Amino acid sequence: MELVICKIVVLVSLVCGLCWAQGLQPSTNGGCVINTCSYARDTRAMDCESRQLVCVPSNTLYKSSDSIKLGQNTITRIKQNSFSGYTRLTQLDISNNLISVLDPLAFHTVSSLQTLLINFNQITQIGATAFSSLRKLIVLQLQGNIINSIHQNAFNDLVGIRELNLAGNRLTNLPDGVFAAMSAMQMLFLQENQLVLSANSQFLRGLRGLQDIDLDGNRFSAIPRLDDLSRLTALDMTDSHVTIISNNTFQNTATLRDVVLSGNIISTIEPLAFNGLGNAVELDLSNNAIADIPFGALSPLRNLETLLLQSNLMTVLRSEHFVHLASLRTLNIEGNQIKRLPLMASLHSLTLLNAKANLLETFDQETLSSLPRMNKLQLTGNRLQCDCRLKALQQWYITSGPAHHPHEIPQCSAAQPVALRGRRITTLSQGDFVCETPTIQSVVRQVHKTAGSSLQLSCIANGFPDPQITWMAPGGFVYTFGPSNRIMVTENGELLFKTIENRDQGEYTCIGINPAGRASATITLRVTPIRNPPNPPKNPPAVPPKPPAVLTTTQPPNVLPNNVTTLPAGAHPVTANPGTNGRTEIVTVVTEKSQTVSDTVKEITEIDLGSNRNHSNADQDKDSKSTESGPFLGSDLTPSSTQSSLARNDGNDVASVCFIGYTLGGLLVAMLCTCLLTMACVIALFIAWRKGLLPSQMKTVNEQKARLVNMICRRESVGEECPTAL
Ligand SMILES: *[C@@H]1O[C@H](CO)[C@@H](O)[C@H](O)[C@H]1NC(C)=O
Ligand SMILES: *[C@@H]1O[C@H](CO)[C@@H](O)[C@H](O)[C@H]1NC(C)=O
Ligand SMILES: *[C@@H]1O[C@H](CO)[C@@H](O)[C@H](O)[C@H]1NC(C)=O
Repeated sequence: MELVICKIVVLVSLVCGLCWAQGLQPSTNGGCVINTCSYARDTRAMDCESRQLVCVPSNTLYKSSDSIKLGQNTITRIKQNSFSGYTRLTQLDISNNLISVLDPLAFHTVSSLQTLLINFNQITQIGATAFSSLRKLIVLQLQGNIINSIHQNAFNDLVGIRELNLAGNRLTNLPDGVFAAMSAMQMLFLQENQLVLSANSQFLRGLRGLQDIDLDGNRFSAIPRLDDLSRLTALDMTDSHVTIISNNTFQNTATLRDVVLSGNIISTIEPLAFNGLGNAVELDLSNNAIADIPFGALSPLRNLETLLLQSNLMTVLRSEHFVHLASLRTLNIEGNQIKRLPLMASLHSLTLLNAKANLLETFDQETLSSLPRMNKLQLTGNRLQCDCRLKALQQWYITSGPAHHPHEIPQCSAAQPVALRGRRITTLSQGDFVCETPTIQSVVRQVHKTAGSSLQLSCIANGFPDPQITWMAPGGFVYTFGPSNRIMVTENGELLFKTIENRDQGEYTCIGINPAGRASATITLRVTPIRNPPNPPKNPPAVPPKPPAVLTTTQPPNVLPNNVTTLPAGAHPVTANPGTNGRTEIVTVVTEKSQTVSDTVKEITEIDLGSNRNHSNADQDKDSKSTESGPFLGSDLTPSSTQSSLARNDGNDVASVCFIGYTLGGLLVAMLCTCLLTMACVIALFIAWRKGLLPSQMKTVNEQKARLVNMICRRESVGEECPTAL
């Protein structure tokens, strides 16, 4: 009998416990009666936060409340009738529960709801009717759930909504037009999801009232269609994998003020990318992979005040970029690879220019005076060369000094002049900023070539700073460093003919210019017309064996098929008179094919090394690899310095591969040896063990024997003396 009662009691309490755990307490309408919430009669606000609730209270009194806080409980599910009777409810907070399911029509009984907060639960899906009949809802927050799908019609009834927060979920995709009914929505938060864009994705369709959208931390590859967002003022797409800004992305968003596209991988900006951004005040393109901005792309940004371009891959800025940015106050181009700043005459309003950590070698007086309002200029971390061009900059820093911390004053950081390296420019005197007039040094006056072949005419100009080289062709046409054409000037100042034509014959004048002056020299090109072969021989048929000697740029190319005259042995090339501004007499050098390194060449090597350190060093390396041609006059295209450095790297790679191969072999042998040794050792130990030769073994064997003897002794011979040890 007692047993039966006991069983029943246990069973009942078990069931009760389970019921409790399941939230199946005595309930009416799916809710439960609770007496622990605090209810403020005057404000009709019920506070049930952190009451360990597993269900929505169903007390009649509470049902007359206007607002109810149910946060930090353990409610797992909102059922169809969970809120039945809560007819007055306008504010509902059920954040920080364990809700994983919103039943269909979960809130249909609370249709006067205005604020619904369901943040930080475990909801995975939003069904078609979860929010139906919430036509008065203004704020809906679903942040920090694990929502991965939203039904296309889920928000159809939310016509009055102003703010929707879906941040921090697991959305990868949103159906087209999912927000289409929410034309009153002003703020939409979709950050920290995993949204990707299908082609022409239209999930933002219909959001005509949207002012602020946060899309950062997603996986978009482009900016979604913003066509209907004609009231948008702020767009944040930080860290969203965007690669391109396409034409007319913003054409219908004329109200946009802040556009933040930082931390993407934007490499392409199409020419009409910013069309329509006439009211934008801030454009943040920092931390992308932008190497260039097309001309005119920035011109719609007439009201832009802040342009952030730091940490990109820009190498060139041009005046044209800024033509219409008359309102710009802050320009940040820190951490790019810009070598030179252009005139920025249209930036009347610029007050702050941050150009730190670029490759700027100088800062022209013209650029400086084109920026009348500038009061802060950050130039540290560049390669400023303290020559006469920097005088104006120094003056500028001295006069506008107080605005700058001493650490913000740039230093002389170029290799030359050595004596000034590391000095802050404001600590120098005007006399320290020196330039030297160019001089031209060349050894070739005449070149004969066959039409159809290629040719590289070299012109080495000394001076400080390094002179800019331009070439004047026979017809008076001037070639400067620039785009790749049949005839072009390379970065090193060589004039490159990809294929020579008959009409190229004539005198070519190379002109070296730097701020201290100019110098020039003339080379005559004779072109032999092609006769029989329609295709010019690309490679000269007879290439003599390459001499092993290390040759330099100025080495007369001894593999050329061209005929040039040789200097008498021991003669030195004559360099241009220093300081002359006119033409320079040049001695002609002819090299026979078979000629090896001569004194002349050595002499030239030294001169060249002194005059044009960086290039000549690079070329020296190149020539030590291949002596096919020198830059002075090459029969074929000289491998460009990048190519040659690649070739050099290849060599290194081969070497390192060899090295790795070698060490791998060594490693294998070592491992094999170790294995063999270990095996031998194990075998030896085994044998030793078998024979009982191990010291520890001997000890234990002895002990065992002793113990055995003792035992036998005690059992058998009582009274007799036992041997204490063996
Ligand atoms: C963007 O516009 C420019 C200028 O009109 C045009 O050249 C370019 O082809 C356009 N790009 C695309 C993808 O349509
Ligand atoms: C070089 O000169 C020699 C002798 O003057 C001549 O026979 C030869 O054809 C010339 N070679 C070229 C490529 O002009
Ligand atoms: C020459 O090369 C060195 C290292 O390669 C570099 O630091 C220096 O700035 C270069 N000088 C010039 C004038 O380009």
